[in-house]
Amino acid sequence: MSQTLTIALTKGRILDETLPLLAAADIRPLEDMEKSRKLVFETTQPNVRFLLLRGADVPTYVQFGAADMGISGKDTLMENGADGLYEPLDLNIARCKLMTAGVKGQTTPPGRIRVATKYVNIAKQYYAAQGRQIDVIKLYGAMELAPIMNLADEIVDIVDTGNTLRANGLEPREFIADISSRLIVNKASMKMKHVQIQAIIDCVAGAIQSAE
Ligand code: PRP
Repeated sequence: MSQTLTIALTKGRILDETLPLLAAADIRPLEDMEKSRKLVFETTQPNVRFLLLRGADVPTYVQFGAADMGISGKDTLMENGADGLYEPLDLNIARCKLMTAGVKGQTTPPGRIRVATKYVNIAKQYYAAQGRQIDVIKLYGAMELAPIMNLADEIVDIVDTGNTLRANGLEPREFIADISSRLIVNKASMKMKHVQIQAIIDCVAGAIQSAE
C-alpha cells in the first residue's frame, strides 16, 4: 500500500501553471483551490494531498518533512538555503531574472552602499562576492520605491518584463541569477517513498518536455 504524500503549492499564477504538470501525474485537486479558503486539499488520488502556502514557506515545510514535495521559486530556495531537500526538476515556469537595479542614469556611489531587498541573504552574498560593502535594508515589497525615495542606492529584485523598473524610473544593472520554479523533495521522503515520488517526478518531467 502506498503512503500518504503531501505536496506544498503556492497560490496565484504559479498554481495555474503547476496544476497541469501535476495533472500529468494524474493528480488533480477535488475542488477549486483558488476559490476555497481551505489550506489542505484532497486530490483524485486518495493518498495524495496538496497544501496551499505562502511561496516563502514552501521550502520550510519540505525541509522539515511537513510536506514531502513542493514547488518553489529558485529565488526563494537561494534565499532560504536548500538543506534537507533535493531539487530534481526545473519546471521551466515563472521564468525571470534576479537583478540589481538603480535610478536610471545615476551611477552608484563608491564605497559602502545601501541595498533594499526582500532577498537579504542573496544580496549579502552577491555583493560580498564582488568585494563590495553594503548595508542591507529589508523590505517586504515595492522595492522599486526605495531608490527613488533615497532609502537605498540599489535594489535586488526579480525582473521579468522590466516594466516595473521602467515605470518607476529605474534601470537594471547587474545580473545575479536566472530564476524559475523548481520541484523540491524532502531528502528523507525521497528514501522512504521513493517509488511514489519518482513516479511523479517522471510524469512531471514528461509534461515539461512535451510543453517545450
Ligand atoms: C515582481 C517583482 C517586480 C515585478 C517585476 O513582483 O518584485 O516588482 O514582479 O516584473 P516586471 O519586470 O515584469 O515588471 P510580483 O508582482 O511578483 O509581486 P511581489 O512584490 O509580491 O514579489
